[in-house]
Amino acid sequence: MDRISIVTGGGSGIGRAICHALAKNNHRVLIVGRREEKLKETQKAFPTKIDILTADISETGDRLKIVEYCAKKKIQFLVHNGGIIGKITNLEELELSEWRKVMAINVEAPLFLTQSLLPNLQDGRILNISSGAAHFAIKGWGAYCTSKAALFMIYQLLNVELTEKNIKIASLRPGIVDTEMQGFIREADIKKMPHLQKFHDLYHEGEMESSDRVARFAYWLLTETNEGEFSEKEWDIREGDHSAKWDKDKI
Ligand SMILES: NC(=O)c1ccc[n+]([C@@H]2O[C@H](COP(=O)([O-])OP(=O)(O)OC[C@H]3O[C@@H](n4cnc5c(N)ncnc54)[C@H](OP(=O)(O)O)[C@@H]3O)[C@@H](O)[C@H]2O)c1
Repeated sequence: MDRISIVTGGGSGIGRAICHALAKNNHRVLIVGRREEKLKETQKAFPTKIDILTADISETGDRLKIVEYCAKKKIQFLVHNGGIIGKITNLEELELSEWRKVMAINVEAPLFLTQSLLPNLQDGRILNISSGAAHFAIKGWGAYCTSKAALFMIYQLLNVELTEKNIKIASLRPGIVDTEMQGFIREADIKKMPHLQKFHDLYHEGEMESSDRVARFAYWLLTETNEGEFSEKEWDIREGDHSAKWDKDKI
């Protein structure tokens, strides 16, 4: 049976870097996103290793396209990376449609894609791209913080529930990473997001995390940790002494 890995949101940022780290190491990867041209840009680096599928992971019909692609394939790694920050505004002013959009992409998609792909995931590993925002209230990011907190609980629940199927799940906090999402954040209204200046400062001082470094961390986590380590706690790129094990320019 063919073995593949899947990275949602593989057309840009962290997802593109994780896809390239996998492809460079001879993994066959399917990347999923809404913008075909971005997926093709990612594919260009390793055209024989990367397949693309234009799909909106928040749509049931589009998730079905991913499931159909995976028919008769075994999934080695499923990386739930696709996500949005949503409109930056206080919860008291947040529109229901905005809330639902963030929840559909950041929470429903990883949960129900996992559910549909369980038959293909035997002995596989799932990696959720989490955020510090799952654990801290950031003014203006209400829907995003809530969605990442829900994704964190889904990680904890599946970690308990999937043990018998021998499917392992991990959660990774990548730090503040220089991607399109951060560009969107920097355009926010400071009245809606009082912490905005900190994000401008990190950007201008060149102190943001790079997607490539996050990808090195993710690749190590997926391929070199044992089963217990992989799932036992949420991994934070900024915490602990694990970086000595993966932060070498080897992939
Ligand atoms: N950057 C940071 O500082 C940071 C910090 C903590 C966590 N994260 C998390 O890291 C992950 C990747 O974000 P990033 O920073 O790399 O930003 P990014 O470049 O904006 O990547 C997000 C990706 O998700 C895809 N996506 C969004 N909605 C989608 C949908 N409905 N269906 C399919 N794909 C969708 C986007 O592609 P399309 O628009 O083409 O669909 C895009 O490629 C996100 O889960 C984010 O929450 C980022």
